[in-house]
Parts: sequence; structure tokens; C-alpha cells
Amino acid sequence: MQLWHCGRASHPDYQPDGKLPMAPSALRIEGDYKVVSPKDFQQYDYPVPRAMDKQEIKELVQSFKQAARNAMSVGADGVEIHGASGYIINQFLNQLSNQRADEYGGSIENRARLALEIVEAVCEGAGSAGRVAIRFSPFGHYLMTPDPQTYPLYTYLLSELSNFGLAFVHLVEPRSDDMPLSALSNVSGSRPDSLAPFRQVFGGPLIVAGGHTGASAAQAVQADAADAVAFGRHFISTPDLVRRIALGAPYNKYDRNTFYAQGPEGYTDYPFVEDTPEGKAFLAKA
Ligand SMILES: Cc1cc2nc3c(=O)[nH]c(=O)nc-3n(C[C@H](O)[C@H](O)[C@H](O)COP(=O)(O)O)c2cc1C
Repeated sequence: MQLWHCGRASHPDYQPDGKLPMAPSALRIEGDYKVVSPKDFQQYDYPVPRAMDKQEIKELVQSFKQAARNAMSVGADGVEIHGASGYIINQFLNQLSNQRADEYGGSIENRARLALEIVEAVCEGAGSAGRVAIRFSPFGHYLMTPDPQTYPLYTYLLSELSNFGLAFVHLVEPRSDDMPLSALSNVSGSRPDSLAPFRQVFGGPLIVAGGHTGASAAQAVQADAADAVAFGRHFISTPDLVRRIALGAPYNKYDRNTFYAQGPEGYTDYPFVEDTPEGKAFLAKA
């Protein structure tokens, strides 16, 4: 189960206390991203958030711990902390969204402090570090401009995370970061950025995600670039993805328009391999 806090990536109507969404600093999300209000379902500009005080940071850490306890108490196998995609942990890590003058801002060590405190608290809440993971998108553009110090920042963080005995760390590939999720395209191909330096410093199991097919995933694992590969969009649209990867069968095409739909459409109505013309033809030949 993934544990989130959106920080500044939220609409004021979501705040139970009627205050502005909180963030490391009072800095608005750049770009023309929109946020939907839960009251009228209309799209709005993101608000300028309010900067958190120290007490709120402490409470945030405790709320992650409680969320881990809650998840385990309802039978989750483990929890993955959402440290990616421009949400609150990402907002503290990134110097462009974190301009604090206290021990949670400034140096790389200070900006990584909240992430490490949350990991420690969540390990306690979950009862075992082996039940805890964390996800980052070091090169992500979604709701965020990547940190100018991406490599030293995440190298420090990943090397510190080696000490916890986590179940895994989960990193988003640089090539899947080009667009907001609602407009994710089939971006693939080579870019100069790479997760390899983080693989080198992190001693535990590493999962990577972003733009993979069965073939590229196998290649990544064989090359020891990762221990496992996760799928997003193909997994959404292909209910028997694992079987199709094993068979080498074609995947269903995903429909971006229904990625965030509210009902069964785009969620439970994609066909299995034997129920598509291409799948039938493939199986007949195989
Ligand atoms: C509809 C949709 C919802 C997503 N929700 C989450 C989420 O809740 N948490 C998360 O860490 N990533 C989320 N992602 C990102 C995916 O985990 C993944 O990183 C991304 O889709 C790139 O991998 P892919 O190329 O295999 O799709 C979501 C992606 C899509 C398309």
C-alpha cells in the first residue's frame, strides 16, 4: 500500500482545517498544472502554499508512522512511501521548492532529513524495515522542476537508505518523466540521464519503472541495472500482462482518457489475450 502526502499539490478545499495546503516553503507549483476541487470538480491553479512550522513537520512524520500502522493492521504486506512525483517528500528534497533556513532546508543533508525521518518512523509503524519501501523520481518533471543537484542529492539519499534494511527502493526512470501523467506518451529511447549511479550506492533491492516492456525489463535485470521492473500503463490496460510477457504476446493499447475515470471503464473492462483479434491470431501461431 502506498503512503502519500501531497503537500502543496493539493486544493485548499481538501484541507480539513480550512487553511492553505502546507509545504516546505510558500512556493507555488510552477507551470500550468491544474488541481481539481473536491467541492465543484472544477480545475483551478495550484495555490501558493503555506510554509510548515517545526511542529507540523513532527506531526507529518508521526502521521506517516500512523498510516503505516493502519495499513499493516488491515492486512497490507508492506508499505511504499511516496517520495516521488512532486509530493511532499519530493518538495523537501528539491532546493527549488524548499528554501527553508532551518535544519530541513539548505544543504543536501538537511533537505534529505524529512525523507529519512519518515522512513525511520514508517519502519517503526510497520513493525519491520523489511515491510517498507520508498519511491523517488530523481529526474521527474511532474509537478516539479528537477533539482539542479539531482545526482549528489539522490546519491546521498540512496547511500543513507542502505542502512535501513528496506524491502526495496523504487526509482522512476529518466525517460518516463517528460509529461504530466495525464498525458504520458510512449516516450522511450535514450537520454543522457541514468539511474546507474544510484544503483551503485544503494545496497538493497532496487525496482525501476518507466517506459518498460517485458523485453526491456528482462534486459535491465540481466544487465543488473535493477532487481525488478514495475509497470504502470501496460499494467492498467492489460489484465493478463504477466502471462503476455511470458508468452511474448502483444499488449492491449491503453486509453489515456480513462486513466483517471471514476467507474469500471478503463479499469476492469480491458480484454484478456484470447478475447482480442491480435491475441487470438498470436495464440493460433504460437
Ligand atoms: C493512471 C496512472 C496512475 C498512477 N498513479 C500512481 C501512484 O498512485 N503512485 C505512483 O507512485 N505512481 C503512479 N503512477 C506512475 C506509474 O507508477 C509509473 O511510474 C508510470 O506510469 C511510468 O511507468 P510506465 O511507463 O510503465 O507506465 C501512475 C500512472 C498512471 C498512468
